[in-house]
Amino acid sequence: NKYTLGMIGLGTMGRNLLLNMADNGFQVTGYDKDARMLQKLEEDGKAHNLKGFESLTDFVQSLELPRRIMLLVPAGAIVDSVIQEVVPLLDKGDMIIDSGNSHYTDTSRRAIELSDKGIHFFGMGISGGEEGARFGPSMMPGGDKTAYNAVKPILEAVSAKVNGDPCVTYIGPGASGHFVKMVHNGIEYSMMQILAEAYDLLKNVLGYNNGQIFSTFEKWNNGRLKSFLLEVTRDIFKVKDPKTGGYLIDVIKDQAKSKGTGKWTSQVSMDLQLPIPTINESVSARDLSKFKTLRVALSKALPHQQTKVEDTAAFEVQLEQALYFAMITSYAQGLHLLEQASAEFKYELNLKEISQIWRGGCIIRAVLLEDIYQAYKKQPELPHLYSDESIQNQLKEIIPGTRNVVITALSNGIAIPCFASALTYYDSLRTENSPLNLTQAQRDFFGAHTFERIDEEGIFHANWNENN
Ligand code: 6PG
Repeated sequence: NKYTLGMIGLGTMGRNLLLNMADNGFQVTGYDKDARMLQKLEEDGKAHNLKGFESLTDFVQSLELPRRIMLLVPAGAIVDSVIQEVVPLLDKGDMIIDSGNSHYTDTSRRAIELSDKGIHFFGMGISGGEEGARFGPSMMPGGDKTAYNAVKPILEAVSAKVNGDPCVTYIGPGASGHFVKMVHNGIEYSMMQILAEAYDLLKNVLGYNNGQIFSTFEKWNNGRLKSFLLEVTRDIFKVKDPKTGGYLIDVIKDQAKSKGTGKWTSQVSMDLQLPIPTINESVSARDLSKFKTLRVALSKALPHQQTKVEDTAAFEVQLEQALYFAMITSYAQGLHLLEQASAEFKYELNLKEISQIWRGGCIIRAVLLEDIYQAYKKQPELPHLYSDESIQNQLKEIIPGTRNVVITALSNGIAIPCFASALTYYDSLRTENSPLNLTQAQRDFFGAHTFERIDEEGIFHANWNENN
């Protein structure tokens, strides 16, 4: 009686996903070097008599052929070392599914290396954190289709469901699964930063206390902003610190860390020349936050007078609009990048399906994704999310308020990198005549880099010094 699937790495994500599979009636097992992890699996999986292995050989031999092995270990060198250890024990036709947040270029390399050995390898992004893994994540598998078909029933069973649709679909060939998960995380960074900026404005422009901030987020979450990240953010504002008796949020250091997926998204966007400025700003905001000593010194050396907003209620309404606008823009930039990457890397991405599986289970799930899904359903070749008519109608409604929020924040000297960049991105895209004719003139002036004309085909160069 062999197992259908084996998990290597029984940390939080691996263990919970395995429990989820067992709940759904699959015969699964796990392997971890750490005996404590095996013990934890057996404790949590008592109801299903879930057992793990201490020996990698025994684990591999316990799996039915062709073997389905899933990895949930930290991204990077550990994935390579686990692969190196397990591959000699495998047979041709077996499959390895890397479900961590691996860099897509590592996934491409591993897929090639392993296909030479007859092993099917595919990369799959999983989103939803601990809760998601346990009760229904959103999953982004890409790569070898044979391997995907062999695990499809398991993935569909354990995934989150929205209106009965599983939040998993075959993403595309190559490293597309990990690529899409990386961009998901870029959007996640951006949404987290706009929520932080909204918090800053509620606290420092409107002077709200934590209780009022909780109520405002709660009110917003009952409307179009409803999303997992807003829900989490709202709930943070009711948690007390047992040590001080005050709110926990107030004793947390204002310096954010990251594990790399946001940065990777920005890096590849530069390589593909497909701008995602709001996502970039969210990555930079985390990095800027780390300069605490400098920030403290400069806050004293370069103070800025703040003025209170008179009409609190009106500003709160506008802030909800700005948040919604920045949220639309975060998805718009991520999806635009996916479209470009799909063309460049031949990923054959289907943005309709991607927005469909992001509607549930993942960290960036939000009611707005239903509108986005409908937009791509209506027009699969939509050039940009802003091109959709119903999104345009929403934009027309929320832009005036957004402008006021940005102006108010800027005149109060409050940093709003994502709100401001989202608005500027929007204005850049709706500018018919940009001033970049000047850039071309400058390049030609000092470097003879040539330019094109609006009234004639061809490549031109001017003698700028002679003609002036
Ligand atoms: C998810 C999350 C998850 C995690 C990332 C980001 O979709 O479940 O994106 O993968 O939160 O690792 O982490 P950092 O903020 O540490 O970069």
